[in-house]
Amino acid sequence: MGTRELGLPEVVPAAKLPPRVTVWEVGARDGLQNEQAVVPVDVKIEFLDRLARAGLTVLEATSFVSPKWVPQLADAEELLAGLARHEGVRYPVLVPNERGLARALDAGCAEIAIFGSATDTFARRNLNSTLDDQFALFEPVVARALDAGVAVRAYLSMCFGDPWEGAVAVDQVVRASSRLLDLGCFQLSLGDTVGVATAGQVERLLGALSEAGIGPERLAVHFHDTYGQALANTLAALRCGVSTVDSSAGGLGGCPYAESATGNLATEDLVWLLDGLGIEHGVDLGELVATSVWMAERLGRPSPSNVVRALAKSG
Ligand code: HMG
Ligand code: MG
Repeated sequence: MGTRELGLPEVVPAAKLPPRVTVWEVGARDGLQNEQAVVPVDVKIEFLDRLARAGLTVLEATSFVSPKWVPQLADAEELLAGLARHEGVRYPVLVPNERGLARALDAGCAEIAIFGSATDTFARRNLNSTLDDQFALFEPVVARALDAGVAVRAYLSMCFGDPWEGAVAVDQVVRASSRLLDLGCFQLSLGDTVGVATAGQVERLLGALSEAGIGPERLAVHFHDTYGQALANTLAALRCGVSTVDSSAGGLGGCPYAESATGNLATEDLVWLLDGLGIEHGVDLGELVATSVWMAERLGRPSPSNVVRALAKSG
């Protein structure tokens, strides 16, 4: 009894769900890349430290992209040099090109992520490339990273709709997914960059990928919550067997090159769902909420996460 006092939901497992989910925390990267003001590096470092202490084991730390394009993350070297690394915690970083890879290798990164687009317009806006040319940009990055013993994840943006092109054909997404995975990436994260997806689309895409030989064990989902669908979409993906879910503490986030993108699925909202379903994840919800409240104070505005708001009020 006393769900509100304990700050946890009642546990009622449901059928056909994975027993354990890896929460891929992107707040420090996807969240902070989109802030109007540059967040001081010591605040970023403390944020990542608190997230590790809250039990998160994958912390996407920053990006080695052009500082002209994303000045918010221009401090990537300083951030990684100052980070207190926790045992058992992974700190992947985003890399778009060979210059970014060289910086990531110099900083001692063990894991990187490339980020492609399922549409031509977003490839141009986000990478100054084209839908086809982006693979040539990534190919030497992945090959050299693998040679250096660095694991590579891939993102694919605009999988469920694009603000400039509208609906995105499923076979176009499947083709781009195969091309990214064929480069040698260990996992592909399907991005709903502008948060327009609904649950039926998620099932449809995961079904089409599975038919093309890309099963849920090689996939992750990355939902932005612009239209309030991120949690429903996540449940749909879990039911299809996906067990890695990207989210950001407090629901921070967006994409500087996709204006309609708002925050990611909030990690607290995800953890509440997983707790209620009895799915293991290793995160301490109370500590995580305290971290997001602390971060919201630094950013000067409340967290958009429903769970953060509810627990901050009750606690
Ligand atoms: P470009 O302008 O074509 O690149 O941009 P360039 O090669 O002509 O270089 C321009 C300048 O940037 C040069 O400097 C380069 O040296 C420098 P200058 O000679 O003018 O002084 N430069 C770099 N500096 C540091 N590190 C680098 C680097 N590369 C070039 N790695 C480029 C092409 C790919 C670089 C650019 O488009 C870029 O950086 N894009 C990144 C945009 C970005 O970070 N977007 C957000 C991440 S994606 C996302 O959020 C979606 C996701 O969350 C999933 C989802 O939600 O769908 C992952
Ligand atoms: Mg994103």
